[in-house]
Amino acid sequence: MEKLITIALDGPSGSGKSTIAKKLSNTLNILYLDTGAMYRATALKALKLGIDTFDETGVNTFINNIDLDIKYIDGAQHTYLDGEDVSDKIREPQVSMAASNISSLKPVRLKMVDMQRKIASGTSCVLDGRDIGSYVLPNAEYKFYITASVDVRADRRFKELKLKGHNVDFNALKEEIEQRDYNDKNRDFAPLKKADDAVEIDTSYMTIEQVINKVLSYIK
Ligand code: DC
Repeated sequence: MEKLITIALDGPSGSGKSTIAKKLSNTLNILYLDTGAMYRATALKALKLGIDTFDETGVNTFINNIDLDIKYIDGAQHTYLDGEDVSDKIREPQVSMAASNISSLKPVRLKMVDMQRKIASGTSCVLDGRDIGSYVLPNAEYKFYITASVDVRADRRFKELKLKGHNVDFNALKEEIEQRDYNDKNRDFAPLKKADDAVEIDTSYMTIEQVINKVLSYIK
């Protein structure tokens, strides 16, 4: 039987985690789970229901029965909410802040972590998120904490959104990223943090290829 590999990639938004995770999953031919997409879909559900994303009582009315599904089509992750493919919708800027807010609620995290552990069990995989190495998969063999300066991250997001046709203001985007960093690092339950045994990589001045090679140098 082949040995299973589990890779945890954590870090703040815009650090390059998802690009790295996708490439790693292709190179190593293992499953990739973007856990942020699950928090985003949960936030979208609250927005649709008109429930405030900090309102734990309101969120409790739907979280345990949420119809959230992850499917893989031609190797790419698709996120379904109530049977609808919401993979594009959850990338809308207003969903980003809502996801950061709703992810601070403990019942939301417990539900998402439970789903993530089920998806990851018994298969080789790379998961990206905020608490993968520290909480979701503390026994992952390989853990990386991917960072970059806030200016570089804002610049990456700015270019990405522009390409998609969104009209965004750089300073507003940078402030939003700082706010999300603050939320993610300061929530009470399973905050964003580097696991003690994670390798930290600052990608500010590295190309994707350089980061991938560095990560692979630990795995091979
Ligand atoms: O990675 P992302 O930007 O798509 O994630 C959206 C939000 O979800 C992020 O602001 C924090 C939250 N999140 C989390 O709390 N834990 C994770 N494992 C992944 C994302």
